[in-house]
Amino acid sequence: MAAPEIRRIGVVGLGAMGAGIAQLAIEAGYETVGREVTDELGSKARDRVAHFLQRKVDKEQMTEAVRETALASLSLTTDLADLGGCDLVIEAIVEDLGPKLELFGELDRIVRPDTILATNTSALSVTEIAAASSSPQRVVGMHFFNPAPLMPLVEIVRAELSSDEAVDAAFAVGARLGKRPIRCHDTPGFVVNRVLIPLLNDCLRVLDESRVSPEDLDTAMTAGAGWPMGPCTLLDLVGIDVHVHASEALYEKLREPRMAPPPRIVAMKNAGLIGRKSGRGFYRYD
Ligand code: 3HC
Repeated sequence: MAAPEIRRIGVVGLGAMGAGIAQLAIEAGYETVGREVTDELGSKARDRVAHFLQRKVDKEQMTEAVRETALASLSLTTDLADLGGCDLVIEAIVEDLGPKLELFGELDRIVRPDTILATNTSALSVTEIAAASSSPQRVVGMHFFNPAPLMPLVEIVRAELSSDEAVDAAFAVGARLGKRPIRCHDTPGFVVNRVLIPLLNDCLRVLDESRVSPEDLDTAMTAGAGWPMGPCTLLDLVGIDVHVHASEALYEKLREPRMAPPPRIVAMKNAGLIGRKSGRGFYRYD
């Protein structure tokens, strides 16, 4: 089936990633419908987007009129049925297979037959998620990086049954969002996380092995390896819960010891020290 012209984008889940994706969509001129489970969470996401667009206005990177037009093109809902008119729906909910399967099954009944369904999963199989849809050919991965409005890459992931039309349409949307899209296949961790997850786990092991402080480890990797931010700062940004989950998912699939999350970070997750979003991870945030 030919891919539709993409005019209206739905984003399901407006956490840090979903809100960032919705921000990109409205900045690129798409009518955007954001769905959260409560009105409060939806409003929080809109405030976040409004804040970052205001910073652009403050820095004269955007006019007030453009900001207002962009914000007006974002509508919020708690009702999945309101995504019925979307040409592309991007899922950015919790990284658990069960809820994702349920969502894709429901979306299947709500959207048009030619609507493209994309998942922003970082470590789950797009093919497994697509199996919840009666038309798995319309399902692809669109994997954005945190923070989505700033990181240039989007991985366009072809699952086993994705159609060329769906992959090409997602690629074109990625480019229109101002990203540098790449095409890849549905292998564990796709491209970046296949490399970055074990690397971050190595960094965590070094914390114990060389008894270096998180601050000094961050300095080592920024000043000595040219990373834009140190591994501890990055893990606090991405979320320690997200990293542990991704590590476990990749370890389960690949059985490579370096993929397994080191005990120190599992303990942090269990203690609720999950980074910026909880106010404390390797560092404290007020
Ligand atoms: N959303 C929207 N806008 C944001 C934002 C966010 N989360 N964070 C910052 N901004 C805006 C702000 O308005 C900010 O300006 P302000 O401070 O004047 O208000 C503006 O962007 C610039 O922000 P920064 O000054 O912080 O930008 P930097 O030039 O320092 O770059 C960075 C920030 C791009 C995050 C850079 O430090 C970097 O590249 N870090 C590495 C990040 C990375 O590796 N991400 C990948 C993680 S792995 C992943 O996501 C995979 C997943 O599957 C787990």
